[in-house]
Amino acid sequence: MTALRRVPPSLDAVLRDVAFDHLWRSSSVLALVLDAQGVVIDANARAEALFDGPVVGRRGVDLVGVAGAAARSTLAHLGTRGGAVETVRLTFRDLGGATLVLGEADAGELARVERDLAAMHADLQNLTREVVRKNRALARLGELKSRFVGMAAHDLRKPTGVILGYVDLVLDGAGAALSDDQRRLLGAIRSSCSFMARVIDDFLDLAVIEAGQLTLHLAPSDPGSVVRAGARRAEEHARRADVTVSLDLEPGTARRLDASKIEQVAMNLVGNAIEHSPPGGRVVVASRLEGAAFTLTVSDEGPGIDPDDLARLFRPFERGAHGGVARVGSFGLGLSISKMIIDAHGGSLDAASGAHGGTVFVVRLPGAGERIA
Ligand SMILES: Nc1ncnc2c1ncn2[C@@H]1O[C@H](COP(=O)(O)OP(=O)(O)O)[C@@H](O)[C@H]1O
Ligand SMILES: [Mg+2]
Repeated sequence: MTALRRVPPSLDAVLRDVAFDHLWRSSSVLALVLDAQGVVIDANARAEALFDGPVVGRRGVDLVGVAGAAARSTLAHLGTRGGAVETVRLTFRDLGGATLVLGEADAGELARVERDLAAMHADLQNLTREVVRKNRALARLGELKSRFVGMAAHDLRKPTGVILGYVDLVLDGAGAALSDDQRRLLGAIRSSCSFMARVIDDFLDLAVIEAGQLTLHLAPSDPGSVVRAGARRAEEHARRADVTVSLDLEPGTARRLDASKIEQVAMNLVGNAIEHSPPGGRVVVASRLEGAAFTLTVSDEGPGIDPDDLARLFRPFERGAHGGVARVGSFGLGLSISKMIIDAHGGSLDAASGAHGGTVFVVRLPGAGERIA
C-alpha cells in the first residue's frame, strides 16, 4: 500500500478513511467487490448508476461480461442506463477470498471510437451530398420527361384532329359512294384515331398538371348537368359494349367549378365503369346534395377492384389486374388525372368494391362558396 509520507502517522488512518469514502461515492471509476462465488457483495455509486440500480446480490459476470479468473485486465463494453455502450478497462484484484473489480474509461479505446465516429460522420455527409445531387438530377429528368411528353402530345394532336375530321367528312358526305368494306375500314380508322386523340389529351393533361400549371376556369354551373353531359359522351361506348347507363341526378345548386374538367372526370369514371362491365351490365350514375356538398357516385357490376390495388390506381400509369387483355391501349392515366382535377376543386375522389364485385367511385365537391372561392 502507498505510504503517505508527509502526513503524521496519527492522521494517516483518518485521511485514508475520508479519502476512500469520497472516492467510493464520487469517483468515475466503477468498483465492485465480489465474493468467492463471484456474487457482488458491495459496489460504489458509479457502479449503481451505470447498471441502473442496486447490484449487490447479482453475479459479477452478468454485469461486466467477463469472469475475474479469466483475465486480470481486459476491455469490456458495458450497456449503460441510456442504452448506449460504454467501453471500460476492467482490472481484477484478488483480495484473498474476494475480488475487487475496477473499471476505468479506456482513453485509447475512447479515442478510437471518436475517430470512427468522425469517419462515419464524414461518410454520412458525403452520402447526403450525393443523395441531394442525385435528387436534383432526378427532378431535372422528371421535368425534361414532362416537357417532352407535353411537346410530343401537342404536336400529335393537330394531325390526329385533321385525320378524324377528314374521315368524318368522307363517311358523312361521300357516304353513298362507299362500299361496305370501305365504310368498315374507314370506321376502324375513325375509332383508332379517336382513341389516339383521347390518349394524346391525357398525356397533355398530365404534362400540364405535372408542370404545376393546372388552372381551373371556375364559373357557376349546376354539377348535375355537367355530369349528365359527361355521361352522354360515353353513350356510344356503352352501346357498343351492350351496357345500360342509368342516370339518377338530383338537380343541384349552382356552384363555382370548371365545367369542362368535371365533365371530363364524369366521362372517365363512366367510361371505366362501362369498360369493366359484363355485356348486359348496368352502370348507375347518381348525384345527391348532402348539405351544401355535392356527391356523385358511379357504380358498376364489374369484377370490382382489389382493396390492395385501390390507392395505387389513382397514380399515373397504374393499371389493375383487369386493365390488360381486353384493353390493349390502356395507359392508366384517367383516374390519376380525375383525382388531380377533383383535388384542385378542394373535393375528394374515392372508390370501394363490394365483396361480390362491382365498384363504386365517389366524387365529393365542397358546397357552393366553400374553399373554391
Ligand atoms: N370501374 C372499374 N372497375 C374495375 N377496375 C377499374 C374500374 N375503374 C378503373 N379500374 C382499374 O383502374 C385502372 C386505372 O384506371 P384508369 O386510370 O382509368 O386507366 P385505364 O382506364 O387507362 O387503365 C384500370 O386499369 C383498372 O384496372
Ligand atoms: Mg380509364
